[in-house]
Amino acid sequence: MNQYDFGIVGLGVMGRNLLLNIADHGFAAAGMDLDAEKAGALEKEAKEGQSVKGTTSAEEFVKAIKTPRAIMLLVPAGKPVDSAINSLLPFLEKGDIVIDGGNTYFPDTDRRVAELAAKEIHFFGMGISGGEKGARFGPSMMPGGDEQAYERLRPIFEAIAAKVNGEPCVTYLGRGSAGNYVKMVHNGIEYGIMQMISEVYDLLKRGAGLSDDKLQQTFAQWNQTELQSFLVEITGEVLNKVDDLTGDRLVNVISDQARAKGTGKWTSQNAMDLQAPVPVIDAAVTMRDLSKYKQERVKASKLYSTAGGEQTTADEEAVIEVAKDALYFAMITTYAQGLAQLQLASKEYNYGLNLEQVAKIWRGGCIIRAACLEDFRQAFSRNTELPNILLDEQIAGLVSSKQENIRKFIKLAVDKGIPVPALMASLGYFDAYRSATLPTNLVQAQRDYFGAHQYERTDREGVFHTRWD
Ligand code: 6PG
Repeated sequence: MNQYDFGIVGLGVMGRNLLLNIADHGFAAAGMDLDAEKAGALEKEAKEGQSVKGTTSAEEFVKAIKTPRAIMLLVPAGKPVDSAINSLLPFLEKGDIVIDGGNTYFPDTDRRVAELAAKEIHFFGMGISGGEKGARFGPSMMPGGDEQAYERLRPIFEAIAAKVNGEPCVTYLGRGSAGNYVKMVHNGIEYGIMQMISEVYDLLKRGAGLSDDKLQQTFAQWNQTELQSFLVEITGEVLNKVDDLTGDRLVNVISDQARAKGTGKWTSQNAMDLQAPVPVIDAAVTMRDLSKYKQERVKASKLYSTAGGEQTTADEEAVIEVAKDALYFAMITTYAQGLAQLQLASKEYNYGLNLEQVAKIWRGGCIIRAACLEDFRQAFSRNTELPNILLDEQIAGLVSSKQENIRKFIKLAVDKGIPVPALMASLGYFDAYRSATLPTNLVQAQRDYFGAHQYERTDREGVFHTRWD
């Protein structure tokens, strides 16, 4: 009784791997799953000397954990989380901590925090990134909840997290649903970067005629440069994989209809609520949706011939260099959008986020880890209130040096009729953000014309209405 340091409910791949990671670091861990096979398999997977227990009984599970307890749920987001909480509740005691480690929609976490607080139980929403491997050998973790209660979780979480320069990729992020919110935006950025990488790949392949070998080498080589990042790295590996059935590259025989579980969409939806512009993420969500209209796209492809189909005359290496700069520029502006959304959300929801800490724990373990995260961390260490990293002088230097090439890249895509909406959105956002004046004065005038919505003037205080006709 009461001998395990930590408990995990849900022994799917993520739950099991995280539990074994915890055991590897010398903690005693108990797991619960309604599937007896999964619960039973756990003990067999543990190494000798490790204290690991699997059970199907909520009562046995809860009673096996040291009080005050720390129990993490790794079950699908939504109803399964409420069911798991309800199955534990009869056995939980005051002061226990329940952590939801899934990709939960943040308002659900706020509701659960309040419901469990009424029973004096702490509830944490914690985004976990890094996939199966990350869970097993070091994820990035984004916990939000009660700060004092976090201190009890800290030793275990810091032990199992990925490390960058010896620093764990986990830290207390903020109140309430802060952890789920940060993970949601992490995923929005993930969608944006994945989409932009696929656009660059498309233009290099169809527009510049790069061979599969050259494409693979290009991404592998880029990963040795300032583009160094998990998503660029795995792109090189994905492009290298040969299909057992056809002998072709596997990527060439994968259907182009993308799926999504919803986190990118939530990022865009909530960004609209906060009036946080995140056009790259919006474009990435839209492109996954558009990809599903396969039959319509096939019909339309026959109706409309390709614009400007002439072959690229520029030499291959020059196009690759332009593409590299374009991707770097676009990656930075995508992080800029997501991080700016976090600044706004922190104020709106009273999370108390520190963006330097967010950038710090995204440097390793997670899907959007990249060399540039250290530059962002430094930018926020110079100014924690920075509303947008594009306003930091050092980041401005990085972005400015790539401006010319993203313009060239987009021109090439436009000439060839190859869709690059996320890259275009990154440049459009940048050009609008750096514009001291925008043509929205005209929008205001139109609103006042047809709806008497009034406008402000640049030369005097007050609100005005004009009879335009
Ligand atoms: C991570 C990933 C992970 C998951 C995505 C996939 O950080 O480890 O983001 O959470 O793979 O949710 O999302 P989609 O299915 O929506 O692409």
